[in-house]
Amino acid sequence: MPYLRSVVREVHRMRPSIPVSLMKRTAAEVDMCGYTVPAGSLVMLDSFSPQNDPALVPDAHEFRPERWLPDAVVARKGTAAEVIDHPLLRAPFSAGARMCPGNKIANFELLTMVAQLVQDWEFE
Ligand code: HEM
Repeated sequence: MPYLRSVVREVHRMRPSIPVSLMKRTAAEVDMCGYTVPAGSLVMLDSFSPQNDPALVPDAHEFRPERWLPDAVVARKGTAAEVIDHPLLRAPFSAGARMCPGNKIANFELLTMVAQLVQDWEFE
């Protein structure tokens, strides 16, 4: 299961189904990393660019599920690359009160389907 989850996580990194997986309108003026964002602004999270930036992800163009295994995550801690482990980049279901309520079933369906395919077929 850890490897299967890592395969899914690597797919989210390289080919996110929704590259802008979080869109929120600011209810009030907010300070975001030194930038003043006025109330009523539409803020979008670009979940593709940081996860595919060669400066942060070694061999970013290669499909490597191993980068999501626990040891690899621990090895990134304290470096600039740890930004890719931020929970908002983890999956394409948004966040907060309006986060996709189907996220768990969607994830379990995906894991079940891929696990079954791997048991039934040989991939090259
Ligand atoms: C891979 C599959 C799926 C993806 C990528 C996905 C993604 C999303 C996203 C990004 C939102 C918007 C959240 C927001 O406005 O902040 C959303 C909302 C929603 N999703 Fe999904 N979803 C998936 C599967 C499902 C499934 C299987 C269900 C139902 C069983 C579901 C039900 C909903 C509902 C009801 C909302 C509206 C929530 C609200 O506005 O309060 N989704 N989904």
